[in-house]
Order: sequence, then C-alpha cells, then structure tokens
Amino acid sequence: MTRPLIHFSSARNWLNDPNGLIFHDGRYHLYFQYNPHGADHGFMSWGHASSTDLVAWQELPIAIRYTAEHEIFSGSAVFDASNTSGLAADGAAPLVAVFTLADRAAGHQSQGIASSADGGLTWSMFPGNPVLDRGSADFRDPKVFRYSGARGEYWVMVAVEAMQRKVVLYRSDDLRRWEFLSEYGPRGTAFGVWECPDLFPLPVDGDPREVRWVLIVSMNPGGLAGGSGTMYVVGSFDGVRFTPDLAIPEVEAGAESSEAELAALDWVDYGRDCYAGVTFAGLPDEDRILMAWMSNWDYAEQMPPLGAEPQRGAMTLARRLSLVTADGRIRLRQEPIGPALRPIGAVAEAEVRPGAPLTLDVPTPSRIRLRLRLDHGASAQLRFGEELAPAAVLHLHDGELALDRRIGAAEFPDAFGSVERMPVRGGGLDAVLWLDNGSIELFADDGTAVLTDRLAERSSDCVTLHAVGGSVRIDELIVEAGEVDPA
Ligand code: FRU
Repeated sequence: MTRPLIHFSSARNWLNDPNGLIFHDGRYHLYFQYNPHGADHGFMSWGHASSTDLVAWQELPIAIRYTAEHEIFSGSAVFDASNTSGLAADGAAPLVAVFTLADRAAGHQSQGIASSADGGLTWSMFPGNPVLDRGSADFRDPKVFRYSGARGEYWVMVAVEAMQRKVVLYRSDDLRRWEFLSEYGPRGTAFGVWECPDLFPLPVDGDPREVRWVLIVSMNPGGLAGGSGTMYVVGSFDGVRFTPDLAIPEVEAGAESSEAELAALDWVDYGRDCYAGVTFAGLPDEDRILMAWMSNWDYAEQMPPLGAEPQRGAMTLARRLSLVTADGRIRLRQEPIGPALRPIGAVAEAEVRPGAPLTLDVPTPSRIRLRLRLDHGASAQLRFGEELAPAAVLHLHDGELALDRRIGAAEFPDAFGSVERMPVRGGGLDAVLWLDNGSIELFADDGTAVLTDRLAERSSDCVTLHAVGGSVRIDELIVEAGEVDPA
C-alpha cells in the first residue's frame, strides 16, 4: 500500500484527530494527534502541517510534545487578537492552543493551554496549567471559539465528559479562568464515549438573517456505520445553552440504540472513516471548513502501516460546510476541497444495459462526477479496480447506496470488512466521488449525504459500471484526473 496522494498523512508514525485547526496569516494550520516514536497510538503530541490552499500540506516539526506527566490530547487553537490571555510576547498577539492534558499515570484529564508568538511553529506551555479541572478521568477535547452576541463577547469552550456522554460548555474572558455555562446530553444516542465536539453558527440557505447553530459530536463506538461516527444537531445557542430545533430524545448513557433510532439522527458521514472532525478557527463565520481523521477506532491500530517508514493515519479532504433546507429539514452540506484536475473522459446521455458494462479509465487520484437514472427495478453497480476482483463495489438500488468493501479487505483487520449504506434522493444518483490511494469520499445530493471509506488499493485503474435487472441511464459522467505532488 502506498500513502494517499491528495489527503494529508504524516511522513511517518501514527496520527489521529485533527487538532488546533486555524487559518492565520495566510496559512491554514493543521495540528494533529501524533506519536513521535512510532506507528501506534501513544506518547500523544501535536504534529503540525500547514498549507495555503487546504490541498498541498507541508509537514512541520512537532508543535507540542508530550511531557513526563502528560500526553497532549485533542484540542483547538485561537488567535487572541487583543491579548485577553496576557500571553503576548514582545507585544505580538499570541495564538493560544487549548488541549487535554491526559495524565499518564493517574488517568486523569484536565485542560491546559500553550501560546505561540511565532505564528504557530513553536509553543510555550502556560505555567499555570491546568486551566480547567473537573477532577474527571474523561474530560477532554476542548474546542474554543469567540462568542459575540446579546450577552456580550467572550470565549466559549465546548468539551466532553466522554463517559457521561455529555457536551459541557464553559466561558472565559482570558482563556485561563473558566466558568461553567451548561451541558448537553446524553441525547439522541449515547452508546459509545462522546468525543471531539464542535459548535458553530451557519446561515440557512445562505440567508444571513436565518442563522442556526450546529453541534457536532463524535462517538466511539455507536456510530451509524459501526464503530466511530459523528452526529450533528441543528439548533440555537444563546451564549449559555445549546437547544436543538428538533425533539432529540434523552437517552441513558451507555444504552444501545436501534438501527431506526440511529437512522433518525443526522450524521456528518455515512461511511466508517470520518471521525473527530472539527472546523477551522480564524475564518469568517460563513466560511466553515471541517477536516476529520479518515479512520475508525474499530481497526485503526491494526491497519497495515504504509510507506517506507511505517505510517498510520490520514485526514479527509477539507470540506466547506453550509446549511441547506432539503425535504423540509435543515441539513449540513459538505463541499470537498481538492486539487485542480482536468477532464480525461466523459460520457453523456448514454444507456448501459444488463450484460454490457461500461469500463472507464480512472487513475488515482481522480474525481468522478456522476448523474445516473435507473429504469424501474434496475440497479447500478460501480466496481472499483479489476472487474472480478475489485477493491470495492458500490450498489445503487431504490434510493439506497451501499458501498461494499469486504471483497478487497483480505489484508486488513477483520473489523474492516463492511457494507455502508446511505439513502439518496430521487432513486438515481447525483454525486461526486473522490478517489485516492486507499480511499473514497462520495458526496451525493449536493453534498447533503456523504460517505467516506478507506479501501484496499485498486489493482487497476478501471472502474466498471454494470446495469442489473434493467438499464442504467447516464445523464452525465465526467472523470477528472491530474498530476499531484505527494502530500
Ligand atoms: C478521539 C480521541 C480523543 C482524544 C484523542 C487521543 O479520536 O479519542 O477523544 O483526545 O483521540 O488521541
């Protein structure tokens, strides 16, 4: 297996969650959970990469290292423009990172801060750490943002009590002293631990007078597709409390949800490899960009390491978020941000009949834009790789997509083999697919239904479209590809 070409992965070693996502001084900074000593989870520190376009990433030296007492777990970063923290050095307003200090011996988790005077390259630990301690073993993943509204202007932290399946909210004027505001949960589903929350406003259908707040909660296990997954809840935030728009049922922490209960919730992604996604600070509110870890705790630690020096873990493509009304419900829409590619193949207004598949050359990396309609009773199959031994097969039938990656999973851990299902509108398919070494990201229905999966590597560049039980009409199919410098 080779490393991804258009997704960020570290040159070596282990990575998981994106941390401290921030746009500052013309660069996007991506920090991430990183083990400096190997390709397994451990010695967690913040690795660092930066980019001017969210596509080409340059890996930089480790930003924040574990210490003798603490691992540095997930968190966020803000630009403290008016030096509320007093941590400015030489008069330059600091970047402040807020993260979980995970005590290595005692299994105790509290929040700490560090500041950077050089635009995020090097960081100094705040000597007064921890800044927030609830005496908990599972209090983690602080996401901090600047709130400005009817109640004033202050910093808000959303974090989790992971085992209680609760999001907890705090406020601060100086990023050092934090005051409890409110909590949310357990609601919706609360089987696995809750992790990596985010909370942000977005206009609905682009109307600045109609702003809703989106609460994101990752959970592991208990995600819709199995193992790690991320739900979102649309609601309001008054500076103290988050209130969902829809009646989200309260549930008991640890209780397993039925498939129907899970399906009734809103999910950031229907695949198995989009976890711990959070959004960038430092951008205007309407410019909301999310990145997630492209893996799943069900098997992340057993995946075969990649590359000349052992490496495990990659990020999803960055995705621009918006809220749109579809079928009477406000939904999160995701637009992937990928490299510029050029068309290498196109089919329009064609019909694929049973027994006469269409074979396309789809190199890696590539993007496929696809609009299909199915004859009554027909289904479509897209096979990725050699026809008889594809890495994965995408089935489309009767308003449902099913991505089956079991067939290519021989060299992967058992828990990897799975079939992911996603409802799509209109019976056909209107989607954009991004293919890289070992992954697919599928954005259907204008980005309101997204499925991200790691895949076995394709043994050939072929993608074949089969019609089963009736004809498949291709309204449009465009393959785009390009030369891309390895990320
Ligand atoms: C999510 C997570 C976080 C934690 C980090 C540790 O994947 O478990 O809750 O901060 O990973 O690496």
